[in-house]
Amino acid sequence: MKHLLKLGDLSREEIYSILNLADQLKYERKNGIRKDYLKGKTLGMIFQKSSTRTRVSFEVGMYELGGYALFLSNRDLQIGRGEPVEDTARVLSRYLDGIMIRTFEQKEVEDFAKYGSVPVINALTDYCHPCQVLADLMTIREYKGSLKGLKMCFIGDGNNMANSLMVGALKTGMSFSIACPENYRPDAALTAWAQGEEFKGRFTLTSSCEEAAKDADVIYTDVWASMGEEGEKEIRAKAFQGYQVNEKLMSLAKPDAMVLHCLPAHRGEEITADVFEAHAEEIFDEAENRLHAQKAVLCKLMK
Ligand code: CP
Ligand code: NVA
Repeated sequence: MKHLLKLGDLSREEIYSILNLADQLKYERKNGIRKDYLKGKTLGMIFQKSSTRTRVSFEVGMYELGGYALFLSNRDLQIGRGEPVEDTARVLSRYLDGIMIRTFEQKEVEDFAKYGSVPVINALTDYCHPCQVLADLMTIREYKGSLKGLKMCFIGDGNNMANSLMVGALKTGMSFSIACPENYRPDAALTAWAQGEEFKGRFTLTSSCEEAAKDADVIYTDVWASMGEEGEKEIRAKAFQGYQVNEKLMSLAKPDAMVLHCLPAHRGEEITADVFEAHAEEIFDEAENRLHAQKAVLCKLMK
């Protein structure tokens, strides 16, 4: 594993190996065991979009591993004024041991990896959010013991989260069902992959929330309008009416179903305040696990 650009690039074994290391790092942190696995290493963190969890967990993660993280905002970098990615990637590779990027186009992250010479980590694009899904899988395994055979249901926009969850769930042996309005389906190529022979009977794409949620072990949702889509807020609010995780929907899932949300959450839109609070422990464990899962990724790529 040279980079983390999207989950589809990782084998099942690589995903499980990251999850196992994340569990170990969480255990060490909880028990006050501190090991400088990345002593003296530097990570550049380029943000072209806002972030709370990703920024803080990567920065703290590098510190805890004995390394150093630099926050690089698009507003300050020359890339924000049009310096080409291929030049920025080659320059930064001379200073840094790793680069983390949050941006719009997936191609930009792929180009960083192509032109640079250090590991590149995708910290969210419009296409996918692999770091989040590694933390999600880690959390599900903590609560349920194992992943294989579980059913994950996603309600809402076929966005970056849906794309990555679909890959993460299917690769680790879970079933995946997604309910979204017809014009807001997940990536077409990924859908075709999920509908392939390998995952026969384990993937459902529907516009019916009831169908998707039936007997689910995990219910997942995300905002109706992602970062960069603020201008479509009203159109989307209409399109997503009914695509909400609420008590009624939860009654269709398994009685012990978990609820996960990558956050930030919009109560009263994709999830009700009641359901959110009833599952707050799971959701904030999930947020915490960003730290452990990303430390594992950093170790795998930079150690
Ligand atoms: N879930 C997530 O990536 O959160 P941030 O946007 O706060 O980083
Ligand atoms: N789909 C959301 C996820 C935020 C973590 C967005 O891209 O804004």
